[in-house]
Amino acid sequence: MKLLVTGGAGFIGSAFVRMTILETDWRVVNFDKLTYAGNLENLLQVEDCDRYRFLHADICDERAVEAALAEERPDAIVHFAAESHVDRSILSPEPVIHTNFRGSFTLLEAARRRGIGRFLHVSTDEVYGSLAAPLEATEDFPLNASSPYSASKAASDLLARSYFTTYGLPVVITRASNNYGPYQFPEKLIPLMIANAFEDRPLPVYGDGMQVRDWLYVEDHCRGILAALEKGRDGEIYNIGGNRSLPNMEVVRRVLAATGKPKSLIQFVTDRPGHDRRYALSSEKLMRDAGWGPLMDFETGLTQTIDWYRANASWVARVRSGAYREYYERNYGQRAVQG
Ligand code: NAD
Ligand code: TYD
Repeated sequence: MKLLVTGGAGFIGSAFVRMTILETDWRVVNFDKLTYAGNLENLLQVEDCDRYRFLHADICDERAVEAALAEERPDAIVHFAAESHVDRSILSPEPVIHTNFRGSFTLLEAARRRGIGRFLHVSTDEVYGSLAAPLEATEDFPLNASSPYSASKAASDLLARSYFTTYGLPVVITRASNNYGPYQFPEKLIPLMIANAFEDRPLPVYGDGMQVRDWLYVEDHCRGILAALEKGRDGEIYNIGGNRSLPNMEVVRRVLAATGKPKSLIQFVTDRPGHDRRYALSSEKLMRDAGWGPLMDFETGLTQTIDWYRANASWVARVRSGAYREYYERNYGQRAVQG
């Protein structure tokens, strides 16, 4: 088996590449542009393996995509590459729309021309939008995206599905809930709160902090993608959830308790525009069709994640310099402190 993985230097993509190289005998070609979120240090464990190859390229670059497929002739494409952060998509939607929609289109077209055996499109529960309790989205729920990020993912999901319906391209779509774990860029809730708590910096909570997210350990997500890749049916969508819904304030309180830091570090700041109140999804279909289920409980996963960030302070320091700082100032510099 030979995979072309896009976005394999990011948080989830790199976990998937490490898992695939270390636990299978497959060849993996990592096709990544190395944006601010792409970090080859995430792949040090596998970079010397002769079944692993890195290609520095953009999924929006048709010629680069064609050349990679012609040279490597992969059996399947696993498509992670994206601009993945909601707040960035609100501040600057253009790169989000370009990579997430145009880039997905470029890959789908090349896959169609080449007759790729499987195209796994990695998507998100955010395409379902905010759901009132106790609803849980199943795969046939309507798409109701709120942010430029989730709209770009919903648009690319529909495009991927259309390539199955129209051209018979063997597309499988996965929609996962909020991931956490090692190597996550400290702009998303959990790593940002951990990194700030370690440095005694304020923990910025948007609005009232009672928004609910379902938390999925990154390795459980990667196993779910492997299950969908191997056992999923062409043209189908599979939800991948952690079965652990928590309000943001509860997550923040747990980070403070586990790092031994005071609650006074919590700082309520202006809410995110269009902030979805609650995500929740049912993963029964992937459980039924592929025998997948999340293995990590949130308490253990959060402890392991905090331990990893503690042991890898130099990774965090390097990531937090440069482009990250500039973004941090743009996003939080303009937010008024509440209360
Ligand atoms: P990330 O931001 O950590 O990594 C994205 C990767 O894509 C980086 O390595 C970046 O360099 C690469 N990339 C960006 N634009 C590119 C381009 N034009 N060409 C080639 N490479 C490019 O993202 P992540 O959190 O690992 O998310 C990966 C995928 O999973 C995304 O499709 C995202 O929508 C989806 N997802 C994420 C979550 C989550 O909680 N993080 C949940 C569900 C789904
Ligand atoms: P995030 O990690 O950005 O993921 P997503 O928006 O894709 O769900 O945010 C998770 C939740 O945490 C979301 O409700 C927004 C909130 N949040 C904060 O309250 N403060 C922050 O600094 C960040 C980054 C997020």
